[in-house]
Amino acid sequence: MTTLSGVTRVLSVVGARPNFMKLAPVAGALAARGVEHIVVHTGQHYDPDMSDAFFRDLCLPLPDHNLDVGSASHARQTAEIMVRFEPVCAAAQPDIVLVYGDVNSTVAAAMVAAKAGVRVGHVEAGLRSRDRSMPEEINRIVTDHVADSLFAPSRDAVENLRAEGIPRERVQFVGNVMIDSLVAALPAARALCAPARHGVDKQCYTVVTLHRPANVDDRDTLRELLETLAIMSKGGLVLFPVHPRTKARIEELGLESAEMGTLRLLDPMPYLEMLGLVAEADLVITDSGGLQEETTWLGVPCVTVRPNTERPITCTIGTNRLTPAHRETILRAAREARAQRPGTAPTIEHWDGRAADRIAAALCEGARFE
Ligand code: UD1
Repeated sequence: MTTLSGVTRVLSVVGARPNFMKLAPVAGALAARGVEHIVVHTGQHYDPDMSDAFFRDLCLPLPDHNLDVGSASHARQTAEIMVRFEPVCAAAQPDIVLVYGDVNSTVAAAMVAAKAGVRVGHVEAGLRSRDRSMPEEINRIVTDHVADSLFAPSRDAVENLRAEGIPRERVQFVGNVMIDSLVAALPAARALCAPARHGVDKQCYTVVTLHRPANVDDRDTLRELLETLAIMSKGGLVLFPVHPRTKARIEELGLESAEMGTLRLLDPMPYLEMLGLVAEADLVITDSGGLQEETTWLGVPCVTVRPNTERPITCTIGTNRLTPAHRETILRAAREARAQRPGTAPTIEHWDGRAADRIAAALCEGARFE
């Protein structure tokens, strides 16, 4: 059986908001083993709200390199990351390059490292929505197929990789690093008393995030979603931290000052404040991947405005339900989700706060997690 032991220098590449929560526990587990860890930030997300605030909340040291790529079309952004990462990777000579999740930075760095003959590790491997209209699905497939070490968050992810013919010895079932961050941060997040700061009582409000192109780039869809949220807000406060992409579309529609009931459009929130709000919410409405997982672990009802999910366990075991972007189906899903709020949060195998430790044990000590 191939093992990975002997890794002493790791290079991690991150770029977009959800990457940072996945990096933090891995960085901690590698530091605890005295591993040299170089962090490269591609600059895919660059607004302080989308990047710096997360490094601060997650107590991450500043990245060793920032590639400053910024926003562009998919091809341009991916290519620019590749061009700028190649010399950094060559100079660093790491034993392994770790990439996280499914964003453009993930696939770009994975391809550079693989072609340079450097071992690639994919954290959060094996997720599949089977919807190739999502750029993330393309990123997941390509990254998994060039990676040497695939760290899966759930058993369904392991099965997906086997079904695609990826050799068994490359795949390890380590658990969910996003949940590692949640477990570590929850006491500090609760201590912030985020609901009180926003003037709301616990379990009396809804938290919303929407940023997927399918939901926000089409004017009619976005208009219907905002109208739906405005209707919901008549029954209780709706807090909506707005992603820059969504903000731009709302401004294009001229809807930012429209009559919205108690729907509050807010700036993107730092990690701890967001977690503090989500943990005490009555309901979450989202199209984010991470929030489907976080609400499941917390036992908070979640309605995901998407036709599919790469995280099916959040629906089969967790509190999540899918709905298309239509007013009546969202309102019905919200009613059902609230009515079926679980008494206790579900337990999912290896979503236990120790996934990053398993990754570090695999890298440094050759441990195997089947
Ligand atoms: C990216 C990921 C998505 C992830 C999301 C989390 C890809 C293909 N998509 O989507 O999987 O769920 O991050 O947020 O990698 N912008 C800013 N400031 C920033 C970053 C972006 O204003 O700091 C604006 C720009 O107008 C940009 C747009 O947001 O064009 C989209 O940013 P981009 O990184 O391309 O994709 P996201 O929608 O954020």
